[in-house]
Amino acid sequence: MAKIIGVANQKGGVGKTTTAINLAASFAVLEYRTLLVDADPQANSTTGVGFDLQNITQSLYDCMANQTPAQNVILKSDIPNLDLIPSHIDLVGAEIEMINYPNRETVLKEILGAVQDQYDFIVIDCSPSWD
Ligand SMILES: Nc1ncnc2c1ncn2[C@@H]1O[C@H](COP(=O)(O)OP(=O)(O)OP(=O)(O)O)[C@@H](O)[C@H]1O
Ligand SMILES: [Mg+2]
Repeated sequence: MAKIIGVANQKGGVGKTTTAINLAASFAVLEYRTLLVDADPQANSTTGVGFDLQNITQSLYDCMANQTPAQNVILKSDIPNLDLIPSHIDLVGAEIEMINYPNRETVLKEILGAVQDQYDFIVIDCSPSWD
């Protein structure tokens, strides 16, 4: 059962993404099965672990808005033991689209809960506005 670590700060540009990528890559190098979750529409963690945004067809947005299972959007990075749930600019709208969801605070928890058994660590790179 993975330990989930969120990297969050309301302020922008303070090193959240740098911390999340390096923490996740370090766990992976230590042979912990690691999932990096890019929860920022800027998608800097997604590009930061080597993906071209033009090749991303499904993202965390689909899990949140379209109930796509996390398993279907997980990508393997070039670093052994490091997987990614990519982000997409569409995620900008997710917070507003989910405004009437009864349990919107727990949506991410439920998405990740379905894959938590497959990893030792899950590291979430949050966007500056997420709290
Ligand atoms: N420990 C550090 N020392 C010096 N520079 C750093 C450090 N961590 C990050 N930076 C630099 O600061 C800038 C912002 O870092 P980063 O993108 O990780 O911030 P962020 O908090 O994720 O930003 P955002 O809020 O836009 O998502 C980058 O140019 C990065 O290279
Ligand atoms: Mg960032």
